[in-house]
Order: sequence, then C-alpha cells, then structure tokens
Amino acid sequence: MDLQVTAGVRSVGVDAPDEQFFENQYPLPHGMSYNSYVVVGARIAVMDSVEAGRGAQWLRQIEEAVEERVPDYLVVQHVEPDHSACILEAITRWPGLQIVATAKAVAMLSQFFPGSGIASRCRVVKEGDTLDLGGRILRFFSAPMVHWPEVMMTYDETGRVLFSADAFGKFGALQHPDNWVDEARRYYMNIVNKYGAQVQSVLKKIAPLPVEIIAPLHGPVLKGDLRPYLSLYDTWSNYRPETRGVLVAYASIYGGTADVALRLAEKLRELNAGCVVVADLCHCDHSEALAQAFRLTTTVLAAPTYDAGIFPAMHDFIYHLTIKNFRNRRVALIENGSWAPAAGRLMAGMLEPLPGIEYIGPVVTIKSVADAAVIAETERLARAIANG
Ligand code: FEO
Repeated sequence: MDLQVTAGVRSVGVDAPDEQFFENQYPLPHGMSYNSYVVVGARIAVMDSVEAGRGAQWLRQIEEAVEERVPDYLVVQHVEPDHSACILEAITRWPGLQIVATAKAVAMLSQFFPGSGIASRCRVVKEGDTLDLGGRILRFFSAPMVHWPEVMMTYDETGRVLFSADAFGKFGALQHPDNWVDEARRYYMNIVNKYGAQVQSVLKKIAPLPVEIIAPLHGPVLKGDLRPYLSLYDTWSNYRPETRGVLVAYASIYGGTADVALRLAEKLRELNAGCVVVADLCHCDHSEALAQAFRLTTTVLAAPTYDAGIFPAMHDFIYHLTIKNFRNRRVALIENGSWAPAAGRLMAGMLEPLPGIEYIGPVVTIKSVADAAVIAETERLARAIANG
C-alpha cells in the first residue's frame, strides 16, 4: 500500500480488516478503513483521528511520518467517534497540538469528552478560512450534514488534495481491493443518502477547485480521472437511478410469497427488463438491498400480511427506505394473506409520504400460495414492468 498520497501528504490511518460492523449495524464483509493524513509544511497538520482502540497504531504512524518533528495542528473535520475517538491521546502526547475545527465541532468535542477541557485546545475556523502551514495553505469548507452538522472539508492548495471527510468513502479495508463503486454505493446510500441536498451544495462548492486527489476518511485515496466519482455523487445525491433494472425484494414465511417473487424475477429476465436483482429480506443484508433499490429504476416489494400488519422483515426494509429518502422510483407490490390480505395497502401506506413514487400494477394478491390466476397476474405485472 502506497502511503505517500502526494508530496508532503502521507496516509497515517488505520486499516481494519477485522472490523465486523459499521455504526454497530452495517455488516463489513471486508472490514473498514479509518483514514488520517499528515500534511507537511513548515508546520505539520494531522487530518482527523481514528476509531477507538486503534490510537496506539495511529500515533506510531504519525511519529514515523513526521520523523523527528511533532505535529502542530490536528484538523478535526468530523466529530463522529469513528474519527474522533483518539483525539485525547493525541493532545496528551503532544501538549502543543492545537485542534482546528468548526464551532459546532468544538461544542461536540466538549460533549464527547466532558471534563477534558478540550475546548481550550481548539481554534475555530469557518467557511473559507485558511491555515498557513508555511509553504502550504489549507482552506476549509463547511459541509453540514455530510454527514453530521459540524462537518467541514479541507482543500490543500499546494497538493490539490481535497480532504473530503466521509464523502467519497466506502466500506472495506484498504487491503481488500475491489471495484470501489459497489461498497461506495452501499456506504453512501446507508450513511449519507438522507442528505442529498447538502451533498449537492458541497459538489457545487468544490466544482471550481482544481482538485487532483480526493482523500476521504474511509476507503482509498482517489486519483487520476475524478469525473466518474463526481458523476456518481451527482447522480446519487439527486436521487436518480444509475441503471435500468428491477430489485425484487421479498419476505416470505413459508415460501408462498418467495415462489411468486422468484417467478416474477425469472419472467423479468426473460423479458429483458434490465438488471434484475433478488433480495430475500429474511436472510440478506438489508443495507445492500437498500443500495440496490436506489441503484435501479424499479423496486418490487413482496410480503405476507402478519398480525394484520406487514411481515416484520419487509416492514423494517420499507422503514429504512423511508428514512433514507427513497423517491423517484417505480414500485410494484405483491401481497400474501391466507384470510385477510392487507400487506399491499399497508406497504403503499408506508411509502405514501415519499415523493415521485410511480406505481406499476397490478398489485398481485396471493392467498397462501400461487394458483393459475396468481401466476397470470404475476406475468402481467412482469410485462408492465418490462414495458414501462
Ligand atoms: Fe465516518 Fe460520519 O463518520
């Protein structure tokens, strides 16, 4: 792994292939990285801290990077504990270290570290302020709600590096190379997606900058042609689908609903309805299913009625779609109920507040298991989706 980002900028973050969950909820099949960087001028700045329990490694790597010198500043772009947990270790190690952060960040640091007197070690910066490292200027941009309100990004004018905080990050340890986009999408849709308008605002701020390198707090440093990354962020933050296709998301108790959902998926493939992705919500990673719902043009929700409500695996999935601002998509519904099917109406009710939802009919109603009429309705639905 090349730790030298560019001249005067070195990666000192912690790679965590052993990490199991992010935010204690999102599965990490290939771990996580908690990035931090050292920026060297006549004075030295460290960009952000790392997750709890990894401070010793982080401090050691900083010391190796700065050699006989000591860092002057710790720029805190984001106070969420995956980046701030080891700050006290740093200000204890280097008594002259000054924290540079937004006013909101300073207030939050005092909340996270009560009684530490940490505010007295802080220098408040705001939109457009600069930090002169001596031969190297850092410029700060507020980036509220990408992903917390105190967030800022930092532009290194000398190295043309954008330190982008959570933006442009991804799940996965650095030592596990992948195609970037799949785990960046799952990360974005589950962590940042709620705040599309704020991401748009930041994209407009950085558009005039001659950025050559993006250094996020998770995932690899991005270099070369940055347009594909910026373009994806523009698509995602505008809630536009990336790809023509269908997510068939189902929850099934005894298999009757699964059978119809899988028949539908097979028919959609026959009809060339685009990319068809199937998610068994009782067993799959919901964060990936959610990312696919945002990636594709159409989502089919198939679930039984349960205690006069929606079967919980589907209820939970739709709840997550709503809190992540699901919108501007085509939706079709399949319901099941052995005596009083209501899941279709109830699922539509949960989606009702979301803008830009276009329903494709018919709603397929299963009574226990598929019969000839249900199979015919399923094929009719497949044709409606494929022709839409
Ligand atoms: Fe990587 Fe919002 O913390």
